[in-house]
Amino acid sequence: MSTQPVRIAVTGAAGQIGYSLLFRLASGELLGPDTPVALQMLEVTPALGALEGVAMELDDCAFPLLTEMVRTDDAEVAFGDADIVFFVGAMPRKAGMERADLLEANGGIFGPQGAALAKAAKPDVNALVVGNPANTNALIALGSAEGLDPRRVTAMTRLDHNRAKAQLAARLGVTVNDITKMTIWGNHSTTQYPDLVHCEVGGRSAFDAVGDEAWIADTYIPTVAKRGAAIIEARGASSAASAANAAIDHVRDWVKGTPEGDWVSMGVVSDGSYGVPEGLVSSFPCTTRDGEWEIVQGLDIDDFSRPRIDASAEELASERDTVRELGLI
Ligand code: NAD
Ligand code: LMR
Repeated sequence: MSTQPVRIAVTGAAGQIGYSLLFRLASGELLGPDTPVALQMLEVTPALGALEGVAMELDDCAFPLLTEMVRTDDAEVAFGDADIVFFVGAMPRKAGMERADLLEANGGIFGPQGAALAKAAKPDVNALVVGNPANTNALIALGSAEGLDPRRVTAMTRLDHNRAKAQLAARLGVTVNDITKMTIWGNHSTTQYPDLVHCEVGGRSAFDAVGDEAWIADTYIPTVAKRGAAIIEARGASSAASAANAAIDHVRDWVKGTPEGDWVSMGVVSDGSYGVPEGLVSSFPCTTRDGEWEIVQGLDIDDFSRPRIDASAEELASERDTVRELGLI
């Protein structure tokens, strides 16, 4: 077993995603049974009491890998020497809202926290923004993360990626293990594009395997893209356990690497690939190795996919313009 713990910061640690995430991090589900972890938990001041309760429960689990817990309302303390950061702390939407409606309420959180990240965390930190609207919050964080390599901050579309696999598996009567090369392009919003053209089922294009373009356009894509709203409608609260699970998937694969012949969806800073304007934080097919990500290159974008990728990129550009107008970047 390594002796130095991996320092994992979680913001919004007393919230509902935090409550699913922290226990899995402490049990070793992210980094495996040989890696001790220190949890550095950030909350707003009024929630420190609730956070204390979460810490008491973590204590009561007697997790062998959990070496240390920090509870704080100071972002620089929470991010101190952090190897991994989960930016979860932000308001969730309610029924009837779009995620972009949260920009004004949540955007203000990410400038100061981006600055604190750059100041306090390890320079090669792996940071994931979960709080909505995740892509543009990541853009805001990067805007004030002076001196930090922009590749260190990513946004979560892995929940959409997992949803897209599950919906496809159900339609085709296969398991998610039969599905590779799923991609969510663009924004974690209703404009996202789950791409079955490049996705493979048993080595064959999933688009062809489904063989019904109208179902893909009119049922599959909207079902995946609006799943968050469907969960809110059914549960009366936004997704939490599945979001925590996706956050673990995202960071685990980023740190440990993607398998040969497959890729994952990650919101990353665009380098202009596939016509997505440079600088936007957009979801792409990515491979990872040694804690670094690369956008998969060389995919042919057909007439079905092109307008959908463009529409989501346009939405991201408009969110960027809004946060500029709000003075957040
Ligand atoms: P929640 O309201 O249960 O918890 C959020 C927590 O964040 C609260 O405890 C709150 O006190 C804390 N918080 C607020 N401002 C903070 C700040 N400045 N610093 C630190 N903590 C702060 O919400 P939740 O259900 O855990 O969801 C959190 C966010 O994640 C929401 O924005 C939600 O929409 C988003 N989300 C994203 C995805 C995704 O796929 N990207 C999936 C699910 C949820
Ligand atoms: C989700 O996709 O479940 C989350 O982003 C929560 C939401 O507001 O939809």
